[in-house]
Amino acid sequence: MFQAARPFLKWAGGKGQLLPELTRRLPAHFRRYHEPFVGGGALFFHLANNGRLPVGAALSDSNHELMLVYEVIRDDVEALIGVLQHHAPHVQDQDYFLEIRRWDRQPGFDQRSQIERAARTIYLNRTCYNGLYRLNNKGQFNAPFGRYKNPLICDQDNLRAVSGMLQGVALHVEDFADVLHRAEPGDLVYFDPPYVPVSTTASFTHYTGQTFDEAEQRRLADVFAQLSARGVYVMLSNSYTDLARSLYEQGPLHQTMYASRVYASRKINCDGKKRGNVEELIVCNYYPNANGVNP
Ligand SMILES: C[S@@+](CC[C@H](N)C(=O)[O-])C[C@H]1O[C@@H](n2cnc3c(N)ncnc32)[C@H](O)[C@@H]1O
Repeated sequence: MFQAARPFLKWAGGKGQLLPELTRRLPAHFRRYHEPFVGGGALFFHLANNGRLPVGAALSDSNHELMLVYEVIRDDVEALIGVLQHHAPHVQDQDYFLEIRRWDRQPGFDQRSQIERAARTIYLNRTCYNGLYRLNNKGQFNAPFGRYKNPLICDQDNLRAVSGMLQGVALHVEDFADVLHRAEPGDLVYFDPPYVPVSTTASFTHYTGQTFDEAEQRRLADVFAQLSARGVYVMLSNSYTDLARSLYEQGPLHQTMYASRVYASRKINCDGKKRGNVEELIVCNYYPNANGVNP
């Protein structure tokens, strides 16, 4: 029986809430799919579940531990499930959580098996506060314990479904600009970068200990323009802020951009009280099919 695959990690900026707005704007046809800030991969899984990726996909992110989890699920899901089952009884055990979290502060972390490391990332994601992936300036995971009643550490059915969807998918740890080396005319690139902050305290942009600042947003707009000039379909989401709007609505390619303001409910915010509907920006370099024809 067909089992749909869902994102296997909670991820800051996850696009579950924005999926209807994104899918309405997909081009009717495209060749290969590229997602260079893949995170939890909400749009990728939606497309894969709906058979929209016949020519395949390439997923990438600069977060090495994240891409390792994708790789292990693709190539060795049964071994991963085995290790996760050892972690599963320890969902409310803060000492155990701290012991697993400490691995990347100890010598020999790099020598641990890929399966152990991938299982650690899933375990920490399920048990830490808000599923936050946060590193200190030494690159060590430092999100606090989350105190959930009964988080599901090992969702075997979903992990197997995810593994099925990832067969034949190319996975890379790399900077977003590297998509320029592989995207070809007729391909679709979806960019979901860390958002331009709505205010100085509102946004979470420190995914890997490095800030995605204004210079990075400008570099991304330049990559968008290069892909566009090459005949690649490009869709991008960002916050509805003056900076993001100025880069795409007034940038060098503004006459060939289609920008819309949409509303989304954010799932993770550093300040839990500030969850709610927020304005977001979706930009396409093609006329978006906003009539709901696409799944
Ligand atoms: C908003 S999240 C993506 C959320 C994702 N679309 C989802 O549905 O879960 C942004 C991602 O960009 C990644 N990232 C940050 N800087 C990057 C860079 N320079 N190149 C590639 N990825 C980067 C982060 O590791 C993070 O996973």
